[in-house]
Amino acid sequence: MKIAIFASGNGSNFQVLAEAVQNGSIPAELVFLFCDKPNAYVIERAVALNVPTITFSPKDFDNKAEYEQKILCWLRDKEIDLVVLAGYMRILGSALVDAYQDRIINIHPSLLPNFPGLHGIKDAFEAGVAETGVTIHYVDNGVDTGPIIAQEKVAITPDDTLETLETKIHQVEHRLYPQVIAEVVRKSE
Ligand code: GRF
Repeated sequence: MKIAIFASGNGSNFQVLAEAVQNGSIPAELVFLFCDKPNAYVIERAVALNVPTITFSPKDFDNKAEYEQKILCWLRDKEIDLVVLAGYMRILGSALVDAYQDRIINIHPSLLPNFPGLHGIKDAFEAGVAETGVTIHYVDNGVDTGPIIAQEKVAITPDDTLETLETKIHQVEHRLYPQVIAEVVRKSE
């Protein structure tokens, strides 16, 4: 199976996924990282891990449809089977979602359907709920709405700050995402 990872920022999830491919625990080929932000730190991580990177931004195109057509060209040209979103901070348009139905996976830092959107960790923290978590799901045409593959709860304790909660969530993400992607890859073979 051939995988592409999409990321926009720090890339800590990209890093653990790439390492899991390289040490054989995800039995697939990581063909490229796609990044929509030319200065994102994830690109440095990809260089250090020898993962080819494709970078362009919607600003380079007349409209979002053309931008996504270009992405689709790369996916088809490289015969990508599975797209893994790892902090890709854009909503996918229907051209991409429809072409790769059931073959795009996202990670979201809350227990969906609670706290969708850009600030899942902060929104849960500010809401004062006792638990939040991590959700891994297939991507459909909604925002953080597709079929759920896996979830794990994270308790919010009275001594938590937003920073300690972020750390706890990321620790769960870094363990769960490689594990779930490995299972998805194995099941499809
Ligand atoms: C993660 O919290 C992920 O759940 C969300 O974006 C964040 C990306 O972090 N979709 P990183 O770039 O992988 O460090």
